[in-house]
Amino acid sequence: MKQSPFKFGEIVTGQHFTNRETEIESLQKNFLSSQNTIIISPRRYGKSSLVKEASERFLNIEKGYYFCFLDCMYVYSEEEFYSRFATAILKAACNNQEEFIQLAKKAMKGSRVTSTVTGEPLLELDRNYIKDNIYAILNLPRTIVDKKQKKVIVCIDEFQNISRFDKNHQLQSRLRSAWQHHDQVGYILYGSRNRMTEIFNMTNGPFYKFGETLYLNRIRTKRLREYVVNAFHSTGKEISKDICNAVIDTVENHPYYLQQFASIIWFISGKKVTKADFSEAKKALISYNLNLYIELLDNLTNYQIGFLKALLSKEDRLYSAEVISAYKLGSTANVRRMYNALTNKGIIVKEVDRMAFADPVFKLIAEERIL
Ligand SMILES: Nc1ncnc2c1ncn2[C@@H]1O[C@H](COP(=O)(O)OP(=O)(O)O)[C@@H](O)[C@H]1O
Ligand SMILES: [Mg+2]
Repeated sequence: MKQSPFKFGEIVTGQHFTNRETEIESLQKNFLSSQNTIIISPRRYGKSSLVKEASERFLNIEKGYYFCFLDCMYVYSEEEFYSRFATAILKAACNNQEEFIQLAKKAMKGSRVTSTVTGEPLLELDRNYIKDNIYAILNLPRTIVDKKQKKVIVCIDEFQNISRFDKNHQLQSRLRSAWQHHDQVGYILYGSRNRMTEIFNMTNGPFYKFGETLYLNRIRTKRLREYVVNAFHSTGKEISKDICNAVIDTVENHPYYLQQFASIIWFISGKKVTKADFSEAKKALISYNLNLYIELLDNLTNYQIGFLKALLSKEDRLYSAEVISAYKLGSTANVRRMYNALTNKGIIVKEVDRMAFADPVFKLIAEERIL
């Protein structure tokens, strides 16, 4: 049996990656000039994939750079952050465990190298070591530049998670004060919307104006369609332009759901995708994702449900007296409160000129359940 040409739920690059030429170009320009860059978007729009793809393409043409990757998804404390940061930097500059140990001895005198369950080297920094060496740790990228005569690009994913550490303001100030002096080092910091915006847009926050900000949007229909049609074609199947457009519309150009939906259709279809395949796949898409959202739906207040109903009915003047009365939304102050609560829960997002559901599949589920 052939493998599905679609991939979702992990970083995608190469044949599973489409579009984003402009973003890749900006990123590569920034890699070259060690320009710090912040990338912000809702979850699963493709930030991690974008940085990975851009770095891979860049390394094919440019030598003389180290790329370090640190994912803060499962980093829960400031101390853990230092250990993982230092490990990521050293790892990028070394080809094997032996080199790692040697470099750790030189650059992080007195630290201890252990290994993870998968055998990867890990720098263990205890509380006392960290206390005495905070800036040696944070300046590590700069140390590598001097020792190895290569430029360093530090990519930190889910960066917003640092704001959940105790005393994170102090940490933010430390990071900023160390990193802003790092010539030949570029920091690429990315993560999801609300908390990233808090860190980088607060005018009195340490990270204000730290770098160029790139907001990632969904992918244009034309490019998604080419991607899907080609993927079907290259695996001996055909999907019509109309069905393909319907797929893209259903998931509102959301990259993750596009790949998931296309993958389901690919599995259930024969040589030629039919309308019946489309309907069956749409049901499956909803049912696969239902568990994630059912609790969220159950916990909404009646007011919030009224608010979502108004949104699903394409009301665009949610603050108007007619809409407030028709959907029993209480008052304008109440609408504002709901808007804030639902945005904070990540259910709705403010787009350029409208409010929209952040998650197109949650929208499908909500349509079924509350309309
Ligand atoms: N450029 C792209 N082309 C095709 N699919 C993509 C692209 N970017 C993201 N995706 C899809 O979205 C999913 C989530 O991407 P990811 O990079 O993990 O997003 P984020 O880091 O923003 O949460 C991927 O697994 C893939 O299915
Ligand atoms: Mg990611």
